[in-house]
Amino acid sequence: MQLEDGFGRTFRYLRLSLTEACNFRCSYCLPDGFKKCAGPGPLTLDELRRAATVFASLGLTKIRLTGGEPTIRPDFDAIAETIAAVPGIQKLALTTNGYRLEKRAQTWATAGIRALNVSLDSLDPATFHAITGHDRCLEVMRGIDAAFEAGFETVKLNAVLMKGVNDHEIDGFLALAKDRPLDVRFIELMETGDHAAFFRDHHIDADVITGKLAAGGWTPKLKAADAGPANDFVHPDFKGSVGLIAPYSKDFCASCNRLRFSSLGKLHLCLFGDFGIPMRQWLQSDDQMTEFRDRLIAAVRRKTAGHRLADGVTGMTRNLSAIGG
Ligand code: GTP
Ligand code: 5AD
Ligand code: SF4
Repeated sequence: MQLEDGFGRTFRYLRLSLTEACNFRCSYCLPDGFKKCAGPGPLTLDELRRAATVFASLGLTKIRLTGGEPTIRPDFDAIAETIAAVPGIQKLALTTNGYRLEKRAQTWATAGIRALNVSLDSLDPATFHAITGHDRCLEVMRGIDAAFEAGFETVKLNAVLMKGVNDHEIDGFLALAKDRPLDVRFIELMETGDHAAFFRDHHIDADVITGKLAAGGWTPKLKAADAGPANDFVHPDFKGSVGLIAPYSKDFCASCNRLRFSSLGKLHLCLFGDFGIPMRQWLQSDDQMTEFRDRLIAAVRRKTAGHRLADGVTGMTRNLSAIGG
């Protein structure tokens, strides 16, 4: 049995958010830092295990742990180990801001994480500080070295491109992919509810990079079946590759292959949807997993064709830390 929506799209990739909290204060995401609200805590290890087990039974083979910053959870290592061991999960992936990577890379690889995406928006410590509010640029870069030593299957670097902030650093990022198989991805800034003005001031169209890559001898590469939304490019002189995530491009959503489950147990059918479907109440005991499964099958049928970002409609998404990008 495979999960399928009303447009014939099937889903193999789940983005599972472990927390809304983050210790960084990225200017396009949580510029004032994360503010804890009263209310229930994030899904427990048991709830996460039940959810992952049911998603896997419905054909989702790849799970990406995300947040907020997923690795701030004290039980993060146990969560990674538990989810990696769920029958049917072929690839456990992690998206992190990298603040613990230098010290934890080996442990996380051993726990069963196979694919690692690290956010790094500047290679210059002062700019990094201006963006994130932290002086950890060199530490995150050493974390990426540690990730290569730990032997992850893939290591990707995510840089959100911002006009007047880091758009002069493109060649510096590309150079990181010269001698090792790093996948450098440039992400087009997306508008979210909290940051309309920031978006207006700093958005750069991804086409600018496409032109630059073509002129530099980079050519498009075929996509893996479980890949995310990036379009990848390769170059004969580079061991690594470059990816472009261009959510404003035509047909970006047509091949959408992923679902999102928030840290509060809501199913989000689109990053920019108007609602999350509350599912946590069916994760309270192993006996409820059949009910959870039936509700999931019905809910996915409600997925819409795509986002309406081009019309400035950002749905309920105030910032991406709330549902994990
Ligand atoms: P891979 O599995 O390595 O391909 O990962 P990914 O690119 O899906 O995940 P990652 O967490 O590294 O996200 C990179 C960027 O892509 C972030 O800015 C995400 O918000 C964005 N992104 C991921 N999925 C979607 C999506 O469905 N829609 C939109 N608009 N952006 C997405
Ligand atoms: N636009 C584009 N990318 C974003 N991210 C967070 N907020 C935004 C936004 N508004 C990125 C982070 C991280 C990834 C998970 O999402 O930088 O690399
Ligand atoms: Fe934290 Fe990621 Fe948001 Fe930066 S983009 S504040 S690292 S959740």
